[in-house]
Parts: sequence; structure tokens; C-alpha cells
Amino acid sequence: MTGRVIIVTGANSGIGYEVARYLCEGGNNVILACRDETKGNDAVQKIQSENPHALATFMQLNLSSMESIRKFVEDFHATKKKLHVLVCNAGVCAAASDRVRKETADKFELTMGTNHLGHFLLTNLLLDDLKKAGAESGDARVVMVTSEAHNMDVARKRNPPLVPLDMDNFMLTKYGTYNSMQAYKDSKLANVMFAYELAKQLEGTGVTANAVCPAANVPTTNFLRNENMVQRFFMKWVLHRALRFTHTTRTIGQAAQAVVNAATNEELKGVTGKYFLETTEHQSSAESLDEEVQKKLWNMSAGLVKLEGYDPIEPPEAEAPPPPPEPVKKEEKKEEGASDAAAKPAAGDEKPAEAASAEGEKKGDDAGAAAEPEKVEETPVELSQGGDTTADTTAELSTTVDDSSVPPESSFAESGCGDTTTEASKLDSTAESKGE
Ligand SMILES: NC(=O)c1ccc[n+]([C@@H]2O[C@H](COP(=O)([O-])OP(=O)(O)OC[C@H]3O[C@@H](n4cnc5c(N)ncnc54)[C@H](OP(=O)(O)O)[C@@H]3O)[C@@H](O)[C@H]2O)c1
Repeated sequence: MTGRVIIVTGANSGIGYEVARYLCEGGNNVILACRDETKGNDAVQKIQSENPHALATFMQLNLSSMESIRKFVEDFHATKKKLHVLVCNAGVCAAASDRVRKETADKFELTMGTNHLGHFLLTNLLLDDLKKAGAESGDARVVMVTSEAHNMDVARKRNPPLVPLDMDNFMLTKYGTYNSMQAYKDSKLANVMFAYELAKQLEGTGVTANAVCPAANVPTTNFLRNENMVQRFFMKWVLHRALRFTHTTRTIGQAAQAVVNAATNEELKGVTGKYFLETTEHQSSAESLDEEVQKKLWNMSAGLVKLEGYDPIEPPEAEAPPPPPEPVKKEEKKEEGASDAAAKPAAGDEKPAEAASAEGEKKGDDAGAAAEPEKVEETPVELSQGGDTTADTTAELSTTVDDSSVPPESSFAESGCGDTTTEASKLDSTAESKGE
């Protein structure tokens, strides 16, 4: 498959960059859809410096902003190009220990808003273009880059306590339910379910939709950017170096080839509604197979992104923390003391405050705690940059959530990926030879 027009989101870095580079090598016309103009143009230049014939172009797209997505589609239409393949690769994940829920400009939870809702809107706005190409060539494709972490059983091995996607708490707005791995898992599950539902809706159009996990663990991309330096160093230079030959981790090149396979492999023409782990068709999580939820997810997403033809849905507000418990009134304390008849003071003979509090301490925590209200953190709503620290123009709302019920997690690393035989070795892997 050459000479196709292919959009790759998040193509300035990591797997997306490598996918764009390979696709250019295959003679395709590749649009690098990136949020940062400088990084996007640098990526194009880098590809063209290695391959002067590369048909690579940068176009600006911030998936955390519906305005930017609509503008991107307008700009794309202005180029009058056809569209054969859309690779939805861009993704964010906050640090594993992050308990701060952040929002996009449209008040979506940042991870779900970017990874799923952004791609949902983008894909839908480009569907007519894909259908046209599908009708002409019989082979147009949508590739959703997801992750084995969409599977709760895989993701929770390292990151308890994860729960199934709750459509009534889609953006983790209920107090105490946000943690970064839940948000990431839900967003990657939504990627898979979206691909399945899209495949059904596109039957007979010549456009296929599949989801692919490029590899369970690719520690050398920028994906761990929000982790602390020690974690990043360990993952990149210790874990990856030690484990790459045991097939526990993958190089960027290997992961990219899995995506390129889904996007262009002739053998996959007409194959739709599937989940691939690397280059092998694989069973996605039981949760992802629920067709009723797939439909519900579609309708809710369409409402939230205000897709034409659907009733708009306003994103729910993040729940405020519960109010602190009422302090115990002094009268109640008196009654407590009254049960001891021998020590009963004469009417109106109140104990001095210090004595009362000393008694409280002696009696133990109950009384002392009752006298002092439990401390519950405030939830200030403040303007901040996104979870991805390099974030830029989008002002994102950040809500501090005190979630002491969620234990800290040690690492983001995605685990449990089966060891599959890939077709990667057939393809040129410069990244690998570079030792990435
Ligand atoms: N690394 C892994 O172990 C692994 C495993 C399985 C699946 N995946 C999936 O692979 C995909 C690529 O990840 P990666 O590992 O290559 O990470 P990466 O190096 O961090 O690349 C992510 C890309 O997404 C872009 N991006 C983030 N937010 C965006 C936004 N709002 N609008 C447009 N672009 C945005 C980033 O742009 P900036 O540079 O401007 O931030 C970057 O180009 C993700 O979907 C991830 O879930 C990764």
C-alpha cells in the first residue's frame, strides 16, 4: 500500500514519529498531526533529512481542544487531499502516583478527553473523507492505538484498585474515584470499544476500524514524561536494557511496526472490528466486548463532543469533597459525664475547658476526635497546564482531590502482555539498530 494519504496523530514523538517515518519510507503522503508547531516541524525536517523524498507535512492538532480538532479538519479539507488512513496514536497518561484530576479546555477529564473523546470527534469529522476513499479503493482504515492496559486484569496487576468503566462516572467526577491509572485504563478501553462500534457502523463502506496495542511496554518513548526522574531513568536505562532481549519490553521501532502493520498490511484489507496485540489478532478484555456499552459509549461521546445529529451533553462537574463532620456540641459532653453519678457535678458547675479536653485525651481518641473535626482537603479549582507537563496553549482546569483511599502505585509500566511473534523483523528497524 503506497501513495496513500495518512494522518498520524501525536507523530512528533515516540511510536507516532516512528510510524510516520516508516509510512514515508513506504511512499505514502503522511500528515503529522501534532499539537506543538515547533515539535511537529522538527519531526518533519528530521524525516526529510533522512529521506529527501519523504512526503511529510505538519498540521496542527490539539486533541484536548474541540476547537482545535474542528480547525484541523477545516485545514485538512482546505488541502483538498483524499484520506485513506487515520492513525489515532496520540496519548497522555499522568504519573502513576498523580491524584490530581485535570480537565481539558472543554471540561473533559484530561486523559479520557484527549485519548478517547478527542479521537472520537476527529474520526467522526473525517468519516466522509474516509468513506470516499473506501468507495474508490475498497480499502480505507482507521487504526486506534490502544494498550493492553485497557484490560483491567492486566492493568490492575500493578495498579490496584481499578474498577470497570462506570458510564455514570465516565470522567471520574465522583469524589474520591480519580486515579491516573483508572483514567488511562478507561480511556484505552474506550479506544477499543470505539473501534468495535465504528467497525459495525462502517460495514460495507470499504472503511475498516481496528484497535492495536503496539506493545505492552515501550519504555523509551516520552510516555513516562510525568514520572519522576528516578522512575524514568530506571525504566529507560535499567529495565529496558535488561529486559529487551527477554521480549518483556519492546523498542520504539518494534511498536511502530505493529501500528504500520494495521495501517497498511495488504493481508489485512477488509479485516475490521479486531483487536491486535502487536501484529497478532488477540482477544480484548471481556469488558470491551459488551455491545450495549459500546453503543452507550458512542452515544455519550457523541453528545459530549456535540456531534451533529446527537443531543448535546454538558460534561458533569467534579464532585466537591464531603463537608467535614459537625463538631460535637458541648452539651452532649455534659450528658456523657452525667452517667457517672458519683462524679456528677452540681447543676451549673461546668468543668473548665482544659479539664474537659484533658479528659477527652485520657478517654482515648474517640472523644478527642469528636471534638476536633476531621481534616478534609479543600478542592481548589485553579487554572493550570495539562497533565503532560509540556502542555502549552490549552488552559486546563485542575481540581485537587484528596483521595487517601487509593494506595500509591509504584509504576506506570503496562504489564501482562503476551509474548507474540511479530512481523516486525521483516521490516526495516532503524530505531532498533540505533539501540532505542
Ligand atoms: N509507551 C508504551 O509503553 C505504550 C504501550 C502501549 C500503548 N501505548 C500507546 O502508544 C501511543 C503513543 O505513545 P508513546 O509511547 O509514543 O508516547 P509519547 O512519546 O509520549 O507520544 C505521545 C504523543 O502524543 C502527543 N499528544 C499528547 N497529547 C496530545 C494532544 N492533546 N494533542 C495532540 N497530540 C498529543 C504527544 O505530543 P507532545 O510531544 O506535544 O506531548 C506525543 O507526540 C499512546 O496512545 C499510548 O497509549 C504506549
